[in-house]
Amino acid sequence: MGQSIAILGTGSHAPAKILSNHELAKLVDTSDEWITTRTGIRERRIAGHHEPPSELAARAAAAAVADARLTPADIDLLVLATVTGDMPMPSTACLVQRKLGLPDGAMCFDVNAACSGFLYALEVARALLAAGRHRHALVVGAEKFSGFVDWQDRSTCVLFGDGAGAVVLGRTAEAGRGILGCQLGADAADPALLCIPGGGAAHPASAHSLAHRQHFVKMKGREVFKFAVRAMAAAAREILEQHQLAADHIGCVISHQANRRIIETLSADLGIPMDRFVINLDRYGNTSAASIPLALDEARRAGRLRPGEVALLLAFGAGLTYGSALIRW
Ligand code: ACO
Repeated sequence: MGQSIAILGTGSHAPAKILSNHELAKLVDTSDEWITTRTGIRERRIAGHHEPPSELAARAAAAAVADARLTPADIDLLVLATVTGDMPMPSTACLVQRKLGLPDGAMCFDVNAACSGFLYALEVARALLAAGRHRHALVVGAEKFSGFVDWQDRSTCVLFGDGAGAVVLGRTAEAGRGILGCQLGADAADPALLCIPGGGAAHPASAHSLAHRQHFVKMKGREVFKFAVRAMAAAAREILEQHQLAADHIGCVISHQANRRIIETLSADLGIPMDRFVINLDRYGNTSAASIPLALDEARRAGRLRPGEVALLLAFGAGLTYGSALIRW
């Protein structure tokens, strides 16, 4: 009783290979100037054949476990958020269980909520821990989006990148510390705004699906942009109100890293200055479910999450999904 669920350790991992805007401009009809002014992205990481999402995830997770001063034997729950998993089955979480040497009997599964996936996974793990069913949970976001972007489509291929981030959750007796709450939702208006139409049971791989490039990301960028700002601002207001906090109380905002202009619009809308937003999209692009834990790990290691301060996490993604979380550090 009286215990809350807190982040005990963080970790991240990104592939070494960097693809700059200048290099991209040799592949498709684009320019560094267009990409940086429209998105803020300067470069992204690209995973090699030997680096499937399970590998990126296992490395980020190992770092988080070490940071929490635990060993894999202490982990009995793994929730992994991804939309670019190694294969349709088994889950990428089960592949990570084996790579990390998590104990037999640990509960391991994937969550698909696209770029909101990490917050969805965080809330599921938090609730299971709070129910007293597990001791320590690993929550991971890992993506290899480079395998799902159409390298002939300049409107999407410039946006995405590969990477992974992880946190270890456990109980804390320190009053007031930990995850204060999560607010998650989905908007059913138009799932086709952002999707990978082929490869599932509705449109299995076929000569037709390949010819029509259905295995790649399709996106209506303008509509997604508007949704992102609206949904994240509403999710932020709702959770702040629930916890009777004002924008001034927020020490640090870690929002999904899709586009700097989305973050700037959010900053103006919420009245939270830009210097409180963590931004690493210039170096990684949009890494979908990995983007928040990757930014969280970098922010923590850079000393931006100070004890006692409240961090606001904000996400949006395909579905369309969205979410917010408040964490007192
Ligand atoms: N280089 C050069 N020109 C380009 C490029 C490019 N890479 N991409 C598009 N253009 C052109 C278009 O063809 C268009 O030309 P036209 O006016 O001659 O028709 C022009 O640039 C403007 O295109 P828009 O799509 O209207 O540009 P916009 O200012 O809306 O920016 C962008 C596009 C960056 C995609 C923006 O809409 C955006 O960021 N939207 C949100 C997308 C997002 O965050 N997605 C991630 C979702 S998370 C998940 O779950 C995966």
